[in-house]
Amino acid sequence: MNGSVTVRAPAKINLLLDIIGKGADGYHFLRTVMQTVSLYDKITVRQENEAGIRIYCDKENIPTDKTNLAYKAAEAFFNYTRLQGHGLGITLKKSIPSQAGLAGGSADAAGVLIGLNVLFEAGLSYEELKGIGLTLGADVPFCIRGGTALAEGIGEIITPLPDISDDCVFLIVKPPIGCSTPAVFKAYDEIEAPVHPDFDGLIAAAAAGNTENFAPLCSNILEQAVSIPEIEKIKNTMLLNGAAGASMTGSGSAVFGIFEKKKAADSCADLFPEEYFTAVCKAALNGAETC
Ligand code: C5P
Repeated sequence: MNGSVTVRAPAKINLLLDIIGKGADGYHFLRTVMQTVSLYDKITVRQENEAGIRIYCDKENIPTDKTNLAYKAAEAFFNYTRLQGHGLGITLKKSIPSQAGLAGGSADAAGVLIGLNVLFEAGLSYEELKGIGLTLGADVPFCIRGGTALAEGIGEIITPLPDISDDCVFLIVKPPIGCSTPAVFKAYDEIEAPVHPDFDGLIAAAAAGNTENFAPLCSNILEQAVSIPEIEKIKNTMLLNGAAGASMTGSGSAVFGIFEKKKAADSCADLFPEEYFTAVCKAALNGAETC
């Protein structure tokens, strides 16, 4: 048994997000191209003498009770493996902002599952971990897998795509105001005739591995359901300052821009007000992994 295990869990962005239907349970059927990026939360899991699960987090706005997805992930892992009765501490060092569409909570849940599998030498396969992950949230299976992938269904049918160019630089910017995922999907349902993104065009351009070709096709149908003026302003600032493409990620409110040079992304980041979250990153080839 290991004393403690630390995992780094990357954020994800949606290079393209389209909605193609809705199930009886209210969940929407998506067609989305997802990408993990080098913006990581660090999750440490360790056995503790006292029974129960405890979460320690360096950010005050993050709940440390049963509502945290990391807690639910540990519970689901113990239920699945029947390893109940252990005391567990989970330390979250957060870099991924919440209410951003960057899957911060899902990344932490993925990190907990990967970490516990190693800590308890449980030997669960990736498929088993992804199965447990899906019971926690639609993005968790992708956060376990990472890289570049097409996700369909509610996000759980994952088809790997060729890795996008290592030269690609992403600038992620989130205004102080955040978005609630259920509220954004609900607002989407009220739109009469949403405009759909060019899904086939992006897939073809991404497969050809050419940033110049696919970046302008990055688009997110959920942008039409979010009425936060800052989002359009951030996109425009990026596009006027060297981004080859820019789009909201997930249900927002973060926006990413794709640049060919880190210097241009860094200079663009400096243009945003201090209270905005900004991060310059690269594509991450893997999902949550021990470090
Ligand atoms: O799965 P997750 O917990 O991230 O989803 C949060 C909420 O977002 C769901 O309760 C649902 O209202 C909405 N959602 C959806 N369709 C999806 C994913 C999420 O309607 N594919």
